[in-house]
Amino acid sequence: LTLTQDQSDRDLNARIDRLTLEQKVLLLTGADFWTLWPEPAVGLRKVVVSDGPAGVRGQTWDERDRSANVPSPTALAATWDEDLIERLGGLLAREARAKGVDVLLAPTVNLHRTPYGGRHFECFSEDPMLTARIGVAYVRGVQAGGVAATVKHFVGNDSESERMTLNAEIGARALRELYLAPFEAIVREAKVWAVMAAYNGVNGTPMTESPLLRQVLHEEWGFDGVTMSDWFATRRTEPSARSGLDLVMPGPFGPWGSELVTAVRAGQVEEATVDDKVRRLLRLAGRVGALEGTVASPAPEFSEPEISDLLRQVAASGFVLLRNQDDLLPLQVSDLTQVAVVGPNAAVGRTLGGGSATVFPPYAVSPLAGLRAGLGAGVQVVHSIGVVAHSRVPVADPALLSTADGHPGVLVRFLAADGAEVATEHRVAGQFNWMGGFGPLVPAGVKTIEVTSTLTATQTGRYLIGASGLGRFQLRLAGPDTGQVQEFDDDLALQPGADIVEALMIPPQGVHPVDLVAGQVLTITVRHDLNVPTGSGPMDIGPIFQLNLQTPHGSQDEEIAQAVALAKQSDVAVVVVGTTEEIESEGFDRTSLHLPGRQDDLVRAVAAVNPRTVVVVNAGAPVLMPWADEVAAVLLIWFPGQELGNALSDVLTGVSEPGGRLPTSWPNDEQRLPTVTPIDGQLPYSEGLFVGYRALDRDRRSPAFSFGHGLGYTTWQYQEVAATPEPDGSVQVTVRVRNTGRRAGRTVVQVYATRPGGQVLRAPRWLAGFAPVDVAAGEQATVEIAVPARAFEHWDTERGDWTVEAGTFTLLAGPALDRLTLSTDVPR
Ligand code: BGC
Repeated sequence: LTLTQDQSDRDLNARIDRLTLEQKVLLLTGADFWTLWPEPAVGLRKVVVSDGPAGVRGQTWDERDRSANVPSPTALAATWDEDLIERLGGLLAREARAKGVDVLLAPTVNLHRTPYGGRHFECFSEDPMLTARIGVAYVRGVQAGGVAATVKHFVGNDSESERMTLNAEIGARALRELYLAPFEAIVREAKVWAVMAAYNGVNGTPMTESPLLRQVLHEEWGFDGVTMSDWFATRRTEPSARSGLDLVMPGPFGPWGSELVTAVRAGQVEEATVDDKVRRLLRLAGRVGALEGTVASPAPEFSEPEISDLLRQVAASGFVLLRNQDDLLPLQVSDLTQVAVVGPNAAVGRTLGGGSATVFPPYAVSPLAGLRAGLGAGVQVVHSIGVVAHSRVPVADPALLSTADGHPGVLVRFLAADGAEVATEHRVAGQFNWMGGFGPLVPAGVKTIEVTSTLTATQTGRYLIGASGLGRFQLRLAGPDTGQVQEFDDDLALQPGADIVEALMIPPQGVHPVDLVAGQVLTITVRHDLNVPTGSGPMDIGPIFQLNLQTPHGSQDEEIAQAVALAKQSDVAVVVVGTTEEIESEGFDRTSLHLPGRQDDLVRAVAAVNPRTVVVVNAGAPVLMPWADEVAAVLLIWFPGQELGNALSDVLTGVSEPGGRLPTSWPNDEQRLPTVTPIDGQLPYSEGLFVGYRALDRDRRSPAFSFGHGLGYTTWQYQEVAATPEPDGSVQVTVRVRNTGRRAGRTVVQVYATRPGGQVLRAPRWLAGFAPVDVAAGEQATVEIAVPARAFEHWDTERGDWTVEAGTFTLLAGPALDRLTLSTDVPR
């Protein structure tokens, strides 16, 4: 086994000495969207980077490059299981290697400052310690496989509104104790190889120019890797070059290049500063085996079935059983004859959220398919959608479309200015995105892209057909049965100030209704004119557009009535509600925590006719559940990746325990939550230290479901806690628990600190350590938890250092923040 070994600085310096200033500076901006420049003079091959964190997408942003879709980060944090996440990191390294990717742009460790944050699903937790522990495990797993992790977005990118320009005003204590803390742990403990500087500014300076890069990241924490900018985040040449930023992404354009060469020649930026950046870049290249004479650690091997098994296990380990009246779950399959599986997310489960975290899984098991397989032939599974919850016409399901020669999907034609066809592609997709260019098979000079397909109506009714994207679109609908031709021509643009990622996830749409009779055939053609400016300015990321299709459905009342009728005749009703990647995404924040559409009405109507109703919540971030007390069981499955339906079936039938615990408080209402809307470009973090449960605790308010909450299928007694201070300031905590139920199970032992009578402003309680433990029925276990010295410290703003307020701290232990029955004092 060859392990990654850092090249010595001597070796790196010798290589740097071989380069001219121009050659060095060239390396410091990407070669294109996803790759860095090779440099044969120093034995450097091309380095490839890729998103992250729900899988490894690779260099192509579409269905032609499939990737294992792992559960989204909220689901990973909900496992509270560092060993499992480290193993999953190994799978990500394997995926990266298989795609020729050297640097994974993950994990995202911004905090759940507020549930409105669009990328909430992509971050781990509202708690810095849980975020840090899961983040460290993730990075260790990835890097042990010879692939660099990139912890992002450093720092204060906790929401999306105006993310490119906003200035987050964060007090020194909140910055240190909350927002920087996960980065610190991941740099110090996991020795992460790359950091991504955020778009936003913090306390007056854009993060690509921030003093935090040099002073905190380099000097205090000893970070020796590469800091790259978020995509298009670097604006000014000298301030960014003089800060600790090492790499401008993407390339090949940007504010460094020849301007940086000039600045160095003019003495405005020292050449030694450039050398330091190059040294870091070469060090990173050496770590991933991209430098002649280096070999990266091999990634662990996984067969396809092993990938599926691990994803199924991780998904179930993150599912949070919020409520389970009269032990309805797990279901006794032998007692069942019919199960209704209804709801908008039942037939199409949502495996991931939107934006750069998107990957294209080889398959995705829906709740319906998973339950059909898991319940077996002896149980009849009936389904209806219940509610059409989306308000946009969705991306066309390619399975409903076929090309003229009978293949599923669409034909894409690339046309020159004179209309001549220069290339074609057959695609099984409704979404098209040529972010990295058209690829080697398409010659230059394309002026129009045309997508053609045939829809055969499977039912009689009104179909909504549309095109969405940026720029000019023509939609032509030709019905051969009737000879009718309809043509539309739309110029589509984003609202002023909208984020470019909106164009990717929810582009402006032109929609047209067509009434069809079952069996009728309609030819759909979308033409996108590349000559017309898209209005996306400097962040023009290439042609992106969608073909949209909504099949006929009844009125909302009719759909609800149909689901209710099925639920009424069934032994159990499973209602799968949730959001989609059009609601939870990078690029914009949520404006409401309500489930979209009439999903609340659906749940209530079903629960009213079937007391054995299980609500499955398929969302990456908190949603309001006003009906939670009216239904027998509520299971939160997050965005759990491609094994969604199989993991769901395992948990509902008791093959697996729901292993998850909430990594973030789930609120009861929308009162007193921090805002995501900057005013005049400023976003004050005025809640200070009081984020999530820290605020609820201070205000003596209860959430709908507490931080750390999650039920299993057995019962527990927390028996005893003891604490032993260690010489290094940490405290070894021992907790004895007993599984008092009749099945083996898991509890997550959680330890919180508190400081009775302290004079320093702080949260009433904060997470200090945790450990999951699996215990057989009737057995007991002693769980060891190391509470680090830092758990007792706070940031002394006057001294600019960590300090401990002398006196007695109390450690509380239990299975959730709202059930801490054990306590022990710790003198400091
Ligand atoms: C996102 C990053 C991502 C990058 C590359 C940016 O818009 O903020 O998280 O890694 O794009 O896709």
